Amino acid sequence: MASSSIFVKTMRGKLNFTSLIIMFYYYYFCIFITNFKYSSATKLAPALFVFGDSLVDVGNNNHLPFTIAKADFPHNGVDFPTHKPTGRFSNGKNAADFLAEKLGLLTSPPYLSLTHTKSSNFSSGVSFASGGAGIFDGTDQLYHQSITFNKQIEYYGIVQGKLVQQLGQAEAEKLLSKSIFAIVIGSNDILGYFGSSSSSQKKKGIPQQYRMYDFGARKFVIFGVAAVGCCPSQRDRNKTDACNEAANFWASKYNKGVQSILQQYQTQLKDFKYSLFDTYTFFLNLIQQPATYGFKEEKSACCGLGNLNAKFACTPISTYCSNRSDHIFWDLYHPTEAAARLIVGTAFDGPRKYSFPVNVKQLVSV
Ligand SMILES: *[C@@H]1O[C@H](CO)[C@@H](O)[C@H](O)[C@H]1NC(C)=O
Ligand SMILES: *[C@@H]1O[C@H](CO)[C@@H](O)[C@H](O)[C@H]1NC(C)=O
Ligand SMILES: *[C@@H]1O[C@H](CO)[C@@H](O)[C@H](O)[C@H]1NC(C)=O
Repeated sequence: MASSSIFVKTMRGKLNFTSLIIMFYYYYFCIFITNFKYSSATKLAPALFVFGDSLVDVGNNNHLPFTIAKADFPHNGVDFPTHKPTGRFSNGKNAADFLAEKLGLLTSPPYLSLTHTKSSNFSSGVSFASGGAGIFDGTDQLYHQSITFNKQIEYYGIVQGKLVQQLGQAEAEKLLSKSIFAIVIGSNDILGYFGSSSSSQKKKGIPQQYRMYDFGARKFVIFGVAAVGCCPSQRDRNKTDACNEAANFWASKYNKGVQSILQQYQTQLKDFKYSLFDTYTFFLNLIQQPATYGFKEEKSACCGLGNLNAKFACTPISTYCSNRSDHIFWDLYHPTEAAARLIVGTAFDGPRKYSFPVNVKQLVSV
């Protein structure tokens, strides 16, 4: 009753306390696998530009004073090379780091960390990703503050302008046409969107992805939304610790919508190319057969408190598991570094059944 009632009530537009708590943190999930083979040296693309939410935030939110979507405190970062929190919602690296590594690039720096320096060099890429961001502008109000997807695209427009100034129109166009534009967003909208009492939030901010194309972006890597109903936060709401089927239903519906939009863009926009990763299906396989991928714990978060470590978020007073490599979830919404590595590896050169119409490796070579 309790778990399904969240959806039923919130879809009717009534905001209850439980749904507030749920919105309060993060609707997060889920990610990834394959044996990670480190290949540095060769750059497969000149630059990586990252758009999205906390799954790929590498520190933008550290620069936002009012957001509650933050990860700049322990135990986040416990396995990062510096063993310090960085703003990543992870024990270590996240999907943005692994995607950059796969492309032979350094992690794209957070945009907000660069704007203070006049001589910013954007020619290897930059990250606009921000924890709490959603496709719809209203979604970020749940976290008080984040860089909305529209704002991320606006910032990208500024970067494109600077590249044209630095390199000239022709060189900038060439660079951007070969660069990778990764988009990892949507999870916050799923529950946030349906959990909102304010219909005005739902109307605001139709995203303007066309503008990315207008500003020279041609190669897109899009991660679909994972089976968000299987995050510890969602399982905790079911008496049996089973997945929240309603959340999964909407995630899957959202992914179908994304796929049809991308197919439409490809017919309408010259040279528009993309790789859409079926995060949903891959993630379900992962939690259904964790041992196949080297994991032992697919339900509980590593860091947190209470049932499934999902009653409370990962904060300095939470406990965390001793082996982060055998857990799929780091906290109640986000994957561990190990799971993020696996998902990006699969998106990069995994089988056709997960990547449509091509995987990332094939996308960079066309
Ligand atoms: C920016 O960095 C690239 C290498 O990533 C370098 O080739 C280029 O000269 C730099 N541009 C400026 C304006 O500093
Ligand atoms: C709770 O788990 C049961 C399986 O144990 C499932 O049938 C039910 O749909 C789940 N509830 C929700 C709201 O998803
Ligand atoms: C931690 O888990 C991984 C993955 O299951 C396993 O390979 C490794 O041996 C474990 N480490 C320890 C110290 O138990």
